[in-house]
Amino acid sequence: MVSSLGHGVEEIIEAAREQAREVSFIYNQQFTSPAQEELADRVAAIAPPELNRVRFTSGGAEANEAALRMLRSFHVEKGQPARVKTISPAQSYHGPTMATLGLSGRPAMRAPYDPLIQNQLHIPPSTWRCDPSGKAALAAFDAHIATHGAESIAAFVCEPISAAALPAYSPPSLFWDGLAERRDAHGFLIVLDEVVTGMGRTGTWFAAEQLPLTPDIITTAKGLGAGFAPIGAVLAADHVYEAVAEGSGLLEAGHTWDGAPLPCAVGIAVLDHLERHKLIDRVRSLGPEVLDKLTARVSELDLVREVRGRGFLLGVEYVDPRDGESFIPPELGVARGIDKEALRQGLIVYSTQPTSDGYVGDQTLLAPAFVSTDEELDTMVERMTTTISNVERRVKAELA
Ligand SMILES: Cc1ncc(COP(=O)(O)O)c(C=O)c1O
Repeated sequence: MVSSLGHGVEEIIEAAREQAREVSFIYNQQFTSPAQEELADRVAAIAPPELNRVRFTSGGAEANEAALRMLRSFHVEKGQPARVKTISPAQSYHGPTMATLGLSGRPAMRAPYDPLIQNQLHIPPSTWRCDPSGKAALAAFDAHIATHGAESIAAFVCEPISAAALPAYSPPSLFWDGLAERRDAHGFLIVLDEVVTGMGRTGTWFAAEQLPLTPDIITTAKGLGAGFAPIGAVLAADHVYEAVAEGSGLLEAGHTWDGAPLPCAVGIAVLDHLERHKLIDRVRSLGPEVLDKLTARVSELDLVREVRGRGFLLGVEYVDPRDGESFIPPELGVARGIDKEALRQGLIVYSTQPTSDGYVGDQTLLAPAFVSTDEELDTMVERMTTTISNVERRVKAELA
């Protein structure tokens, strides 16, 4: 998800070296820099047209935290300080800090911290298992509004296309349309966490382009530094920025490394590389082909229930092979087994087993580098097929 350009890219290393020779760090609260300003302009230029204001961070959770502080400032500046609650999908991941764990609804993940997390509400994912139409998620949304009052809701936060928590899943259009209607009616903001999907992973610069609504805030991170430097960003729509600029004019201080010249220079070089080599076009045109190939090879396996994909973000969801729909008994360790077997085959994948959360069973995320050759992508499909077949054989034997 991070190393979308592969490793050891000379032109990015050279950009980092040049910037470090000149000045690698200055404190964001006191100074801006040519690298920061250029990267801000470049990121705003590739974002949806309404999002023109950019603030940099060192990673994804920091970007989401900054987004939460920003939207809080927005409501306070607008004279609506009662807006303190967020709604987000229960099957999600937004980071390991306290507030981002709160956004991540997964009960198993956040249980120890629950007493410290408040005001963060959740709705079920609209998957084949929970809510194929999107109606149940909207009903849960309305129930929160009825219980807590529309005037207490600050924002809805979600990934446009999910990564680790529900690989390559996106709610049905009924949900997005319903969400936009509710924003118009109730005045909360919509924040898209594009920490994974930003910078081309799903075939467009931002996955937001593929949705029928425009968000008020976008966060992004992993692919912006592409593994060469830690950097994230928060993008705000003009109306969010202006509420603060025309009000107190104050956004609180950030982290020490926010917007430092070195990571910003790397971000510029990453954008240059993506553009020069037309890598997002490659992801967009090859993504459906890779999905078709993977689906054709693995969907006949009894362990596999669903194969999903958007660009170079793919997901495989497993079920109990005895009935094709129940969660696989957790003690069989399928997610862990897939990762181990894949590595044995020479493939790095990322599997999770959120069964105890109640929304989804064992599943695997695949996120090939944008620079993968056609042969490497075929090899990925073959190795994944072998991996699942081998694990399925073991699972069936144990179940028997
Ligand atoms: C969707 C999403 N949001 C936020 C984060 C947190 O980002 P970071 O680990 O850079 O803090 C992650 C990390 O995996 C993520 O996948």
